[in-house]
This record gives sequence, C-alpha cells and structure tokens, in this order.
Amino acid sequence: MDILVIGSGGRESAICWSVAKSKSAGRIYCAPGNPGTSKYAGSVDLKADDIKGLLKFAKEKKIGMTIVGPEAPLVAGIVDVFEAEGLKIFGPNKAASQMEGSKAFTKNLLKKYKIPTADFGEFDDSLGAMNYIRANKKYPVVIKADGLAAGKGVIIAANESEALNAVKDIMDNRVFGPAGSKVVIEEFLFGQEASILAFTDGETVLALPPSQDHKRIFDDDKGPNTGGMGAYAPAPLITPLMAEKIKSEILLPTVAALKSEGITYKGILYAGIMMTKNGPKVLEYNVRFGDPETQAVLPLLRTDLVELCLACAKGTLSFMKLEIDEKAAITVVLASKGYPGNYENGFEIKGLDAFDGMKDLFVFHAGTARKDNRVVTAGGRVLDVTAVAKDIRTAIDLVYKNIDKVYFEGVYYRKDVGRKALI
Ligand code: AMP
Ligand code: GLY
Repeated sequence: MDILVIGSGGRESAICWSVAKSKSAGRIYCAPGNPGTSKYAGSVDLKADDIKGLLKFAKEKKIGMTIVGPEAPLVAGIVDVFEAEGLKIFGPNKAASQMEGSKAFTKNLLKKYKIPTADFGEFDDSLGAMNYIRANKKYPVVIKADGLAAGKGVIIAANESEALNAVKDIMDNRVFGPAGSKVVIEEFLFGQEASILAFTDGETVLALPPSQDHKRIFDDDKGPNTGGMGAYAPAPLITPLMAEKIKSEILLPTVAALKSEGITYKGILYAGIMMTKNGPKVLEYNVRFGDPETQAVLPLLRTDLVELCLACAKGTLSFMKLEIDEKAAITVVLASKGYPGNYENGFEIKGLDAFDGMKDLFVFHAGTARKDNRVVTAGGRVLDVTAVAKDIRTAIDLVYKNIDKVYFEGVYYRKDVGRKALI
C-alpha cells in the first residue's frame, strides 16, 4: 500500500527510513519532506498543517496509510477529517489530541483517575493565579501556558517574584501567544526524566524502549532549552521492571481513563515521566513520536512499522508483538551556530554520504534544504547522527568517532549525549 508521512524534521526522516523497510509499503511520500526523506519518499509540496491539501492528495493517490509526525495537524483534527473520508491515518483524533493540546485537560484527567502526576492549580485569570502563588509558597514552582507553545511555554520559577512575573508574561503580555489564556501552576518534581513512546489502539499498549532526551543546549544540561539535542535508548534509568510498572500504573490507566470519557486514543502516546523518589509521575503527554527520541528508538524496532500503524488504526494491536533489537542507540543533533537563538541558514553540508550503506550509522536530515544541487542548512537543528551498537558505551564511542565526517560551517553538537546512561 502507498504511504504518506506528514512532516519535515529529523523525526519524519526516521519514520520514512523505517517505513521504507516495511514489507507492506508501496510508494512512499513525505509532505513536505526534506532532502533526507527524499531518499526514501517522494517529496510533496504541501505543508504539514494544510489539512485540505493533504486530504486531496491522499484521496487522489489512494494512500493506504498516512502517518502524522508533528502535533499541530493532530490537534487541529486531521485524523477526524481523514477518517470521515474513509482514509486510514495513524494518530489520535482531535478529542484525544487534547492530551498535548491542553495541559489543563491532561492534568484534570490524571487527577480524576488518580494517575500519578504533580499537584497543580488551573487558572484563566492572572489574579487567581497570583493569589495561588502567594498562598502556595513552595519553590521552585512550574508555570505552564495551557495550549500549544511549540515546546516552549513552561517557566520554572525559583521564587515568588519570578513566579508572579511568569504569570504576567504568559497571561497579560501573552509571550507565548494565545496559549496564555489559561495557566497551569504545578508542584516542581525532583528527579530524572525519561520518555516512553507507546503504540496504542485505545486498549492495548505496546511501549518502545525507554529513552532520554537532552533538552538543554550545552553539556551537563546547561543553558537554554532547545527542541532536543540528542537522545539514547534504552535508558537504564527505567529498568524492565519499572517499564512494566509505568505501563500498568500510568499508560494503561490513561488510555482506559480516556475511554471512560468517550475518547478512543489511537497512535503514539508519548509520556514524559519524572522518576521521583515516590515513583514515576507524569510530567506531560505528547500525542506523537518524540523528536529526537524517535531517531534513537526506531532503529531498534524490528517489527514492521506500517503493520503497527495499521493495527493501531484498526484496533487490532492486541494481535501484534513488539520485537526490539537487544542493542542500544544514540542520536546526536548537529545544530546551527547560535541555536536556539538566532542563526544563519544556507551553509553547504559536506560528508552526507559518509555512512551510506552502513547498518550501524545513519544521518537523518532535520533542517536541510536543496540549493543548486547542494544540500544546505535550513534550520536550527540540522542533522541527527545515529549509531546503533551492542551497548550504549559502544554506541557513544561509535557516534563520536564518526560525527565529524559530516560537517557544515558553525556546526555545534553536545559532547555528552548518553553519558547519563553510564553513571
Ligand atoms: P512539559 O512541556 O510540560 O514537559 O515541560 C517541559 C519541561 O519542563 C519538562 O521536560 C521538564 O524538564 C520541565 N518540567 C515540566 N513540569 C515540571 C514539573 N512539575 N517539575 C519539574 N520539572 C518540570
Ligand atoms: N523530545 C521532546 C519532544 O518531542 O517534544
């Protein structure tokens, strides 16, 4: 069957790479795609949020399965639109996508069904939020804009004046745009974070190996937050026993809670988990594959990705099993100089074919473009170099021994991706 992948980042590059290995995949398209996805998938000149255009394309080409990468089209209801036309699509519908689209929705659901998460208050006026902060007095405290804010929208305030300013910035000055019409104020959780990406059809949950993102720009988790500078899997922080506990006490109860609310969640459920001294707690849910976690996790997946997507869409996931390579993978993001602040685009990328034909080293394109037969930088996060090896130590050595073979002016990457796994 023909497949359409929606998106254009490193995550979508890894999805296209994985789909290309599927026995069920015929022609593969990626909208809009990038020079990296074009190795596996024909690029379609449609933006990821052009739902009408994508629907028309999928109908014309008789696409058998559409896989949605980013959250924006999911939250906007692309799944409802495709399903209404009888098209198969992988991802949660609009109601289910509130799990990422509204922090207040998720927090209230978790509270109602007693699923472990940080204590919180929800406010749609700044006065109420400020009174709560003044009465609460526990620091740090976490202030979150309610709606989608492109991975931003979370402020960790060290004291009362920072917390009050955060509320003013989010609600009165709307620094994160309309997402600031409501805030969630949360207890700060101490611990290490892990990402659990799980396939679900609304009943069965099959979790991929746990991974860890590296959100800060500099080594040792210093500097401002980014979209993610690297990831590795499996994260030893989550032992197999703990993974079972997270599945039975968090993931399964979450899909069951949604079901009780009349919502069948289909697609990837991505849990951001904080391992606290009182056990795992939900930091957030995302409704799609993580970026860059996917670039480290999919290379470990042996089961056919297209078959998994179909089973989620059809509600037959209980007949599937996840086969996972007993190996480790690491992905390191090559970023433009200046990211996550201002940066320049258009630098030629050299060495992109350095790992061609290799089974344990890959370059996934994230922010790249083609210009006069050359591939140039076209984003803050430009490329993801992934290595797979028998264990995490070997994977780290492999990636860092080879990473400089791919090069562009001003290239920056973290040197400590995966180090936490060795402690
Ligand atoms: P979110 O988008 O809700 O995951 O928040 C982004 C990041 O902020 C998380 O990955 C955590 O690093 C941090 N964070 C969010 N909520 C909390 C919390 N309650 N306690 C500690 N850190 C948090
Ligand atoms: N790795 C963070 C995210 O995908 O949201």
